[in-house]
Amino acid sequence: MTSSLSAAALAVRRNAFAPYSHFQVGAALEDTEGRIHTGCNVENATYGLTVCAERVAVFKAISEGVRQFRRIAIAADTDTLTPPCGACRQILWEFCGNIEIMLVNPRGQTETYQLKDLFPKPFDVSYL
Ligand code: THU
Repeated sequence: MTSSLSAAALAVRRNAFAPYSHFQVGAALEDTEGRIHTGCNVENATYGLTVCAERVAVFKAISEGVRQFRRIAIAADTDTLTPPCGACRQILWEFCGNIEIMLVNPRGQTETYQLKDLFPKPFDVSYL
């Protein structure tokens, strides 16, 4: 199954700055007005300062003043579709709550999850 959101994630993946891992990831985050905010992974020679595609997409949207989101597509070139890392699950929960997560690859394979199923007991503002 393809959609404009998965197409956006696959397209922005080509902008990944991943000279160290050579693992290119794209993310496309749809807000509740249907706008798409994209991100790719941006690596660093220190390795530890690398930022994942998902967080780039979220932070770009937040910095534009957007606060409500519907779903995110995450694209990588793996046959076992690539899920968001733990840090990105935490950030997605903070800003998007229980959104739909669509994993895609360039061969048209897709899987869809709810964030609460990938991240079942999140720490959030309710504990503070
Ligand atoms: N990466 C992402 O951008 N998102 C994910 O969901 C998994 C991992 C990036 C980080 C790093 O640049 C490369 O993939 C290898 O871990």
